[in-house]
Amino acid sequence: MLSSDEIRGIFVGFFESNGHIYVKPSHIVNRNDPTLMFTNAGMNQFKDIFLGNCNSQYKRVTNSQLCLRVSGKHNDLEEVGIDGYHHTLFEMLGNWSMDDYFKKDAITMAFELLTQEYKIEKDRLYVTVFGGDDIDKTCFDKESFEIWSNLVDEDHIVLGNKKDNFWEMGNVGPCGSCTEIHIDLRCDDDRKSIHGKELVNKDTTEVIEIWNIVFMEFERLDNGKLRRLDKHFVDTGMGFERLVMVLQGKKSNYDTDLFFDYLCKLEQMTGIKYKNDDVTDVAMRVIVDHIRSIVITVAEGLKPSNILEGYVIRRIIRRAVRYGYSFLNLKQPFLYEFVDVVLNKYNVFKYNFIVDSEEIKRIVYNEEKSFFNTLRLGIKRIDDIVSCCKNNNTRVVDGGKVFEMYDTYGFPVDLTEMILKEDGISFDKRKFDELLLEQKKRSKNDVQRNDIPWNVVDGGASVFVGYDNIETQSKILRYRIIEEDNKKFLEVVFDITPFYGESGGQVGDIGFAFINDKCSFEIIDTKKINGDMVHVFNDCFIDDSFDVNTTFLLKINNDRRALISRHHSATHILQAVLRQMFGDDLHQMGSKVSADKLRFDFNIDRNLTQEEILMVEKNVNDIIKKGKVMIEERDVDINEAKKNGAMMLFGNKYGDKVRIISFDDISKELCGGTHVKNTKEIGTFTILKCKNISSGVRRIEARCS
Ligand code: ALA
Repeated sequence: MLSSDEIRGIFVGFFESNGHIYVKPSHIVNRNDPTLMFTNAGMNQFKDIFLGNCNSQYKRVTNSQLCLRVSGKHNDLEEVGIDGYHHTLFEMLGNWSMDDYFKKDAITMAFELLTQEYKIEKDRLYVTVFGGDDIDKTCFDKESFEIWSNLVDEDHIVLGNKKDNFWEMGNVGPCGSCTEIHIDLRCDDDRKSIHGKELVNKDTTEVIEIWNIVFMEFERLDNGKLRRLDKHFVDTGMGFERLVMVLQGKKSNYDTDLFFDYLCKLEQMTGIKYKNDDVTDVAMRVIVDHIRSIVITVAEGLKPSNILEGYVIRRIIRRAVRYGYSFLNLKQPFLYEFVDVVLNKYNVFKYNFIVDSEEIKRIVYNEEKSFFNTLRLGIKRIDDIVSCCKNNNTRVVDGGKVFEMYDTYGFPVDLTEMILKEDGISFDKRKFDELLLEQKKRSKNDVQRNDIPWNVVDGGASVFVGYDNIETQSKILRYRIIEEDNKKFLEVVFDITPFYGESGGQVGDIGFAFINDKCSFEIIDTKKINGDMVHVFNDCFIDDSFDVNTTFLLKINNDRRALISRHHSATHILQAVLRQMFGDDLHQMGSKVSADKLRFDFNIDRNLTQEEILMVEKNVNDIIKKGKVMIEERDVDINEAKKNGAMMLFGNKYGDKVRIISFDDISKELCGGTHVKNTKEIGTFTILKCKNISSGVRRIEARCS
């Protein structure tokens, strides 16, 4: 029997002998493409080549790519564990033609590899071919049909629709029709009684897709339309785990040598045998699947958190922990014990790993530990909800209760949903969504504001000059009246302004708008909406008799601004000190800079001791006292800024040109806020509070005076 390593080797060797060059697989955590969190197909790293943004170094390439399908368009999370062949993390074997061969060679090479190298019986293979789509105006793939007709019997060819036979990388991006290869693993009697063709793409466990060959000819645009690419590409992806299952003669991916070590370890750990009971089997499959995603992504530098990719990993960890807790009696952290086994198994991908095994264990252990605490309370709460449903003879839980699980216990909604489903209970999703929306609105009223139309006086662009000026002569570009909590406010965008609009954690400026020394109107806040500074007045002075072309003198409250700038600069110094003391992995998770204090949230998975808090305060004050000069660089090319090591907020979107604020060699950050010219202006920095705000996140509140 071929081992999984041999099977991978045969694939790569076959394409190398057919003129393909092996290229390194890319990282799973995809930091280069804002449309994608994780690498979800081998072709991701070639996206720009397909779209014509750059040229390929080679005409033919091949590799095996680790992929994660847990978010976005391709998401298999819910299926994992239930059957024997869905995964969060899987390996995709691929070969690509960069404007070289097309349909004929792609199909014949695939067929040759499967039937001659891997020796799969031709009669077990079924293929699908794209039948065309009216909306996209794409047509039946006659060419592939004819190529296949020379290789397999016609009753082994199935025409498919856009869902199965038009592959797209995401909602936008490269795409094209595809031809899939399926395999019928049923016994001879079953194969005689129902023709395999009837079972293709019908979600059966024994007739399954193993290889997808995509003919990349289009780009799906934002507006939903297709753009024809200038060149032709072939992009193929074969599910490695499934291929290993077929070639090792198994009925489930979990029965192959790929999962053997994990299942043995889990059996030893729990004393429960795999394949003894349906319920524990599902839990064991979930754990041995998820642990791979967890270890590999953490090895690639990702940390569980409450945002973006970090949250996806947190959800996977919580899902695995919960299965262990509820079905395998694992009441203590256990996932971290699998770290070495996983790293060992994925040795071929090790050059993408940047975190060592001890650190991975620490990260996974801490995450598990903190969730175990909430899990105990949360499971109890869900049990109460379930018994309440049973007593009341209802099968639908109030969305408010599920929201409480999310809001108070940190239970991802899909986890609560899954637990309820085990008792045949669903929840009122509409109510849940309403509450979630309300919560978001509370924290971001701008969602509503954006919908209210403006009265346009002049269509020009607004210019912010508040880094250099505290007052300007300005004219109105547009205005509107906003009603909030039964009060009316006037919002105005001026052509030029010194007022800083709330953004990047810094509060907005306040001040006055004067007309010819005669009258003044108070500006009670400034917001930044779609890049414009929006001045908020509580006096709605613009009416029919008001000349909207009036010139104003805008003047900020400079004493207040100076206090804000002191707190903002202190925030940068604080971040630098925290990183010096606790390592470069520490970064900002949120901040609020106002006139009376600063608030800084950061990731660290333990409480700071009293000595450490005092040390942070002392180190910040030592730097302040040294009188470090602030250096501001405007309009720096973003790539230049990255090269120079300027700190950016992960997950933030920056334009091509950025502003960098540095204090000597102490700190260098991309920042749009206002700052002191010399750290001496900050005064004395005093920590008011240091507290835990969520799992792995601490908050420091401090004042400068
Ligand atoms: N990119 C294609 C897929 O992922 C091959 O199925």
